[in-house]
Amino acid sequence: MTDRRKTISPISSHDMRKRARSRIPRFAFDYVDGAAGEENAACRSRAAFVRTCLRPRILVNSEIRADLSCRFLGRSWSVPFGIAPLGLPGLAWPGADLAFARAAEAFGAPYVCPTPATQTLEALRAAAPTRSMFQLYVGASPDITEDLIARAEAAGFDTLLVTADVPRPGKRLRDLRNGFGLPLRFGAGTLLDLARHPAWAIATLRHGAPRLANLAPYAKPGAGARTLAQVMAAQSSGRLDWDVFGQIRRRWKGRLVLKGVLDAEDAALAAAAGADAIQVSSHGGRQLDGAPAPLDVLPAIRAAVPEGFPIALDGGVRSGEDILKALDAGADFVFVGRPFLYAVAAYGPEGPRALFDVLANELEAAMAMTGRKGLSPG
Ligand code: GLV
Repeated sequence: MTDRRKTISPISSHDMRKRARSRIPRFAFDYVDGAAGEENAACRSRAAFVRTCLRPRILVNSEIRADLSCRFLGRSWSVPFGIAPLGLPGLAWPGADLAFARAAEAFGAPYVCPTPATQTLEALRAAAPTRSMFQLYVGASPDITEDLIARAEAAGFDTLLVTADVPRPGKRLRDLRNGFGLPLRFGAGTLLDLARHPAWAIATLRHGAPRLANLAPYAKPGAGARTLAQVMAAQSSGRLDWDVFGQIRRRWKGRLVLKGVLDAEDAALAAAAGADAIQVSSHGGRQLDGAPAPLDVLPAIRAAVPEGFPIALDGGVRSGEDILKALDAGADFVFVGRPFLYAVAAYGPEGPRALFDVLANELEAAMAMTGRKGLSPG
C-alpha cells in the first residue's frame, strides 16, 4: 500500500476536485459537489476563507517543523483536523468509507462514521478502532434512533455527534435536475454518464450499487415495508428538539457533540444542555441556503459559550491555511468534508491518505510562515 501511494502525487484539494469531476459520473459528482438551493451558503462558506487573511510573521526561526499535534475531546490527535461525516460516500468511489476509516486510523486523526454510510458502522469502527466517532441522525422513529445508539455503543464508539440541521431534507437542485435518488435508477441519461466513466462503473459493478448500510435493517422487505429512501427521509423528520437532545444526553455515556450549530444563542443552549462540544457547521451548505458561513459566526459563538468549551468547525475548508484560519477564529478542531470525497473519487482508496499529507504539509508551512511552532492546548 505504501509503495502504491508513492505513485500518486496530488498537489491540492482543488486539483483533486478537478480530477474527481472527470473521473466519476456527473450525477455522482453533483451529489458530492452540490448544495442546497442556489448554493449561496456553500459559496459563502468558501468566500469567508478567501477573504480572511493570516498574520505573517518573519525571522522566527522555523527550521524545525511545527508540531501539529493537539488535544480535542480529551484525546490526542496527530493533526487538528479529521474527516467530517459524509453521506453516501460509496457514490464518490466504491469502498470510500473503509478508505476514510483506514486513512484516519493510520494518520492518527478522527474519522466520523455517518449514519448514511455505505458500509456498516460495525465494520467502520473495526477499521478505525481508536479514531472513529459516530454521527447520529435522529429520525422520526425513537426505536431506530435507540437501535443506532445501541449499535454504536456495542461497536465501541465513545463519541456521538448528533446532527442538528436536518429537520427537513435539503433541497439540492442539482440532484433534482439529475433525477438522482435512492435506489439508483438507470435511465438513458444515466447509462450514457456511466459509459463515459468506465472505471467508476466497473468498480461500482464489482462492489454493488452504493446502499445505506446502517439503515438497511430498518427497511426490511415485505408487505408494508418502507424503501431505504423512505427510511432515510424519515431520518430528517424534525423530531429532534431540546427534550430529545436531553434524552440522548442521559442515554449516551460517552462524549456528545451537537453538530450544525450556527447561532450564538443555540451554542449557549447546547452547552447548558450538556453537550461536551459543538460543531459549527452549515452541513456544507446542503440544508439552508440562507445559512451564514461557519467561519463568520465562529467568533460570536466562541463568545457565547463558557470559557474553554470545545468547538469544532466544518464547511468550506479546502487547505491547510484554511484550517489555521479556523483555529485562529476560535475553533479547537476542524473537520474537512468534500475534499475527502474529491480525494477518493480522484485517486480511489489511496486518495484520503494522500489528502491528509497534503493538508498537514500545507498547515505546517502556514504555521512556519505565521511564526507558530505548535498549537495551543485544546
Ligand atoms: C448527507 O448528509 C448529505 O448532506 O448529503
